[in-house]
Amino acid sequence: MCGIIGLTVKKGVLRKKLGTVLKQCLKNLEYRGYDSVGFALISWDGELVVRKSKGKIDDVSRKLGFDDYDGSTGIAHTRWATHGKPNDINAHPHVDCKLKIAVVHNGIIENYQELREELIRKGHVFVSETDTEVVVHLVEEYKKKGMSTYEAFKAAIKKLRGAYALALIDVDEPGKIFFARNTSPLIVGLAKEMKFIASDIPAFLEYTNKVIVLRDGEVGYITPDTVFIEHIDKGRVNISERIKVIDWTPEMAKKAGYPHYMLKEIHEQPLALSSTLAGIGLEAEKLAELIASSKYVYLTGAGTSYHATLIAEYLINNLVGVKATAFIASEYNRYGKTISKGDLLIAVSQSGETIDTLMAVRKAKSKKAVIAAISNVVDSAIPRESDITVYTRAGPEIGVAATKTFTTQVLLLSWIAVKAAELKGEIKSTEALQMYNTLKKIPDIVDSVIKVVEPFSRKISSEVASKSNAYYLGRGLGVPVSMEGALKLKEVAYIHAEAYPAGESKHGPIALVEEGFPVFFTVLDDDNKDLLVANIEEMRARGAWIIVVAPKDFEKVVKLSYFTFKMPKIVFWFEPIPYIVPYQLIAYYTSIIKGYDPDKPRNLAKTVTVE
Ligand code: G6P
Repeated sequence: MCGIIGLTVKKGVLRKKLGTVLKQCLKNLEYRGYDSVGFALISWDGELVVRKSKGKIDDVSRKLGFDDYDGSTGIAHTRWATHGKPNDINAHPHVDCKLKIAVVHNGIIENYQELREELIRKGHVFVSETDTEVVVHLVEEYKKKGMSTYEAFKAAIKKLRGAYALALIDVDEPGKIFFARNTSPLIVGLAKEMKFIASDIPAFLEYTNKVIVLRDGEVGYITPDTVFIEHIDKGRVNISERIKVIDWTPEMAKKAGYPHYMLKEIHEQPLALSSTLAGIGLEAEKLAELIASSKYVYLTGAGTSYHATLIAEYLINNLVGVKATAFIASEYNRYGKTISKGDLLIAVSQSGETIDTLMAVRKAKSKKAVIAAISNVVDSAIPRESDITVYTRAGPEIGVAATKTFTTQVLLLSWIAVKAAELKGEIKSTEALQMYNTLKKIPDIVDSVIKVVEPFSRKISSEVASKSNAYYLGRGLGVPVSMEGALKLKEVAYIHAEAYPAGESKHGPIALVEEGFPVFFTVLDDDNKDLLVANIEEMRARGAWIIVVAPKDFEKVVKLSYFTFKMPKIVFWFEPIPYIVPYQLIAYYTSIIKGYDPDKPRNLAKTVTVE
């Protein structure tokens, strides 16, 4: 978590002050955390200026006057607290004893206690409770021994254990930003006469789309005209081979007129889905072959990505006929003994950086399983550690609650499942062709669903906003859709929501149902329909307030519910994609009605790089 930005620039290149540009870049990273904010810059006179405080970027910037400061080199940080409370002192950057060096950090330095004690013994004075502060004192200590800043920085890095993306400046070397990466993401941005370092690409997309994604173990520095990268053990990296041009426009990363990223991203789903379809190629086919020939398929992910794996698990078992099991990434030890050679692990992660998912990948790899990644971020950690990666093409997702990345993951996994079923001879080519044709229509179907359901979702939200609990129920493929619906409501509207297979009600949960208790039913167009009608009746008899998402011709449910979202008729295997839309919109509008900011839900961060 935490967002880092650094910029070094020649005089006269920027039309705004450096403080303003750092603030704007930081705004694009706010989804990574928003407990506290700060920057450090080297003024044109060579002075180190540090300003930081608890709070969100706009408020802190107004309070501390980011816009008043200019200089050649700066680093800034938006924090998601791990070690130390979110207060002014623990806010980054952190400085050395002489106020000459400043550092920002994303990650956790595991051995910081011992390093801190060692440095205190040598006379260093620590002011914060953070793990980060050791880095800057270590550099100071090595410099005392006569090393250059870069040598001292490298020596410090060699002492660290844990996860880090670091950016450091030193008044003795104005114009340079030193950086290092291990586990936490870090990207170099290349523009004429200025260079960036950031946790994620949208940070600097307004200035450049030329990037180098740093890899674990890499360290280096940028100046306005140069980039130097080396692997801490293996030596110098050839920069030209690593430069990538990203086809995201800055507009794609901005709100484009919507009040919130979450709403924009819900509306972007048709585009994200068609881009993902257009991107399907050899890698997706290879993954389908792997599934068809595997003895056993494991799937893993966290949060929303886990829900996508549950859908894929169902498809692989029931459409492809290969045994598949999905598990929550942080529970990777669950199959630690049984996962083995010949098995396939599909790791789903939009960011490609979620540490739980990465750890599951490493575990399965150590057991010699083949690893396939599904990700939205090119060259991120999970794809790099996998044998094969298939990318969704949803574009940058800024809202903390995943929406378009979920539907694109499900679409991609559905296509791959159909291909695997075809390759394995479980479905005929003609049947497969029909399925591919349906998948091609999904972007238009989702487009029309958004248009039809949005006004009703908004209306229903005004009632949902007054509730404090909700159930989301379904059967079969409707269960993961319900789970994702409940997660959205929890994440952005802070309403307790629970999803479970509808057949379980009578085994306990129905005891909670009384007059007005909200129950959402996901009724797909499969054999479970009539059983679900019986479940709706059970809930109705206890006075539940019932909302249903069901095929448009399934009239039976209409008279049993307060409201029914009528969904277009498509083969039920692919229904999870359009069916999630009303749930996304209900969560969004309920959050708005309750006066929350759905883009920045409390206590959450988009990319979770701590276990
Ligand atoms: C965090 C986010 C969720 C997301 C999950 C997995 O918890 O708040 O929205 O689903 O991480 O993220 P990933 O990038 O691995 O899909």
